[in-house]
Amino acid sequence: MGELPPEIDTTTPSVARVYDAILGGTDNFAVDRAVAAQSVQAMGDGGNGARLNRAMLGRAVRFMAADGISQFLDLGSGLPTAQNTHQIARAVNPAARVVYVDNDPSVSLHGRALVTDDPATAVVLADVTAPGTVLDSPEVAGLIDFSQPVGLICNAVIHHMLDEEDPYGAMTAYKDAVVPGSYLQVTHFCDAAPEAAASVRVLRENLGRGQIRGRAEIERFFDGWELIEPGLVFLSQWRPDEPLTPPLDVGSLLMLAGVARKP
Ligand SMILES: C[S@@+](CC[C@H](N)C(=O)[O-])C[C@H]1O[C@@H](n2cnc3c(N)ncnc32)[C@H](O)[C@@H]1O
Repeated sequence: MGELPPEIDTTTPSVARVYDAILGGTDNFAVDRAVAAQSVQAMGDGGNGARLNRAMLGRAVRFMAADGISQFLDLGSGLPTAQNTHQIARAVNPAARVVYVDNDPSVSLHGRALVTDDPATAVVLADVTAPGTVLDSPEVAGLIDFSQPVGLICNAVIHHMLDEEDPYGAMTAYKDAVVPGSYLQVTHFCDAAPEAAASVRVLRENLGRGQIRGRAEIERFFDGWELIEPGLVFLSQWRPDEPLTPPLDVGSLLMLAGVARKP
């Protein structure tokens, strides 16, 4: 990582860097790789769930961009990897604008380096559970036009918010801030597979984060919006690029995925 600013703590694992390690990235430290190894063992999927989760992000962003969404708020965006939201969206609409939000300083450090010469992309260091701070940030004000539909992306982030942090209240604030025709995309660890519970236990023990939720609890994040076909489904079942061959592997069963439209 070269010269590190003091806010980057290399002695405590972080959610973003553990996930980066599972994806085979290089923006992580030994403490992160140790938790990643435990987590992959608990998931029993060789890290496939993380790859399927990224693939789902790609399909959802392409879908939204093809449906005319030209601005995205990517909440809990994670460390930059091979294909990030702005690159995925711009393959469909070269004018797409993206604001990335994450509370991990490693993400803002690497994210800002990636988009430094890109006036249509910004990175905000903020907590998603503080929607006022996010929505009032200069980066959001500069890039997101709230009179036009917005693509809200919550890919594998809400399950890092504990119930006591009121994730439902936060999501309602984001949903209220956008106009009809906007979309919300969510992937979330669900209780269908015991491997998901085991993996969330690893996260909770090592990172103090991680909350598994059932189908009904996950569906509540979309309340008032219309889930588009095929509804809330396992990761690889959401509009797959290729026909799926059953059975689904465990990586796919770890999370539910859905996209809804504001009526
Ligand atoms: C598992 S990663 C997912 C990254 C990316 N969205 C993806 O799906 O590839 C979760 C990300 O959410 C971020 N995160 C977790 N809780 C957050 C919060 N309360 N506010 C902002 N970011 C958060 C973590 O720092 C991490 O980068």
